[in-house]
Amino acid sequence: MYKSYHTLHPLIQPKNTADWIVKWRDKLALDKLIVFCDSNTRYLAQPLAESVDALCWVVAAGEEHKNLQQAERLWQELRTASASRNTGWINVGGGMVCDLGGFVASNYMRGIPLVNIPTTLLAQVDAALCGKTAVNMGPWKNQIGSYYFPDAVLLDPSMLKTLPAEEVLNGKAEMFKHGLIEDIGIIDYLDNLAPNTLPGIKWVRRAAEVKMYWAGADPHEKNHRRILNAGHTVAHALEAWYLEQGQSIPHGQAVWAGLLAEGWLAVQAGLVTEEGALHWMLDIPRFVTPRKWPKTVDWLPWMAGDKKNKSGKIGFSLPTYPGSCLLDQYFSPKEVGILLRKFDLNTWLS
Ligand SMILES: NC(=O)c1ccc[n+]([C@@H]2O[C@H](COP(=O)([O-])OP(=O)(O)OC[C@H]3O[C@@H](n4cnc5c(N)ncnc54)[C@H](O)[C@@H]3O)[C@@H](O)[C@H]2O)c1
Repeated sequence: MYKSYHTLHPLIQPKNTADWIVKWRDKLALDKLIVFCDSNTRYLAQPLAESVDALCWVVAAGEEHKNLQQAERLWQELRTASASRNTGWINVGGGMVCDLGGFVASNYMRGIPLVNIPTTLLAQVDAALCGKTAVNMGPWKNQIGSYYFPDAVLLDPSMLKTLPAEEVLNGKAEMFKHGLIEDIGIIDYLDNLAPNTLPGIKWVRRAAEVKMYWAGADPHEKNHRRILNAGHTVAHALEAWYLEQGQSIPHGQAVWAGLLAEGWLAVQAGLVTEEGALHWMLDIPRFVTPRKWPKTVDWLPWMAGDKKNKSGKIGFSLPTYPGSCLLDQYFSPKEVGILLRKFDLNTWLS
């Protein structure tokens, strides 16, 4: 264990995932099990569902399906299947499945028992952990959601075997962020690994425990948990911009870009020296897949909808030196425009 941390739920590496599910079902005397997955994780979910005698429900893969329409469809299906408060819901998928499935489970009959089995690196170190669920509303990311803690998150490295190289890069964005917030050892480890090589389970777990430590101390994000939003004010603005264009950008790629932009903002605001920030900012380009990035003036206005904003000011958790991050940094939209005037993602990431 990395350091003592408050557990919002157990993080388990089961010897046999199906056996663990059967024990959970029997312990809670569950009347039915639903295994929920997307079209790409069905091949992992279906055999599990068959071995534990569960129904297997599928949603089309892709962030554009993380919405209220899908949630309503799933609530209708639960009703049709006569699901009760005693029906167990198991997410087998990446952050999209865990967010949508968790949201559905948290609201059906005010909440049914839930387990997450993350199948992307990003979900293993972040999205499946610590109880945030959400759906998007149009281009606005994660606008409707809940805090709902799973009974357990099962960490099974074999779930990542078929993960495409790009998804490895995406997952490393949240791992790197956890390194920036708390543990420079994670950054050193990632630096010494080829960008699209999967990290070992020991480091996956360590990155997950950084999140569990900060979220456990502040489950409902009143205070310290906001540190986990480093890079995310810009990341969510970029994701909204892409969704508005009818396109999408993987969350992890938006986080890499967000960490860069927010690192630059911290330098311009005088919160860290350029040398201190460049120490980690220069690591980032090798994890980013090529694309034509929008100009800063195009994504800047989308920060206005960020959930961290207060009294018309834009809220950031700003990454500074590796292993440290500044909470509750607020700037007016005009100030942000000035601080990022010379920042261009295409220059940094070309
Ligand atoms: N709730 C939280 O605390 C939290 C934190 C971070 C991110 N998120 C959310 O998580 C989502 C991003 O998560 P993600 O990157 O896992 O995206 P994702 O779930 O969309 O998965 C990415 C792609 O990989 C595919 N995939 C998943 N597992 C696979 C496997 N084992 N083999 C092959 N393909 C596989 C998926 O079908 C999808 O096409 C976003 O919606 C983001 O907002 C939530």
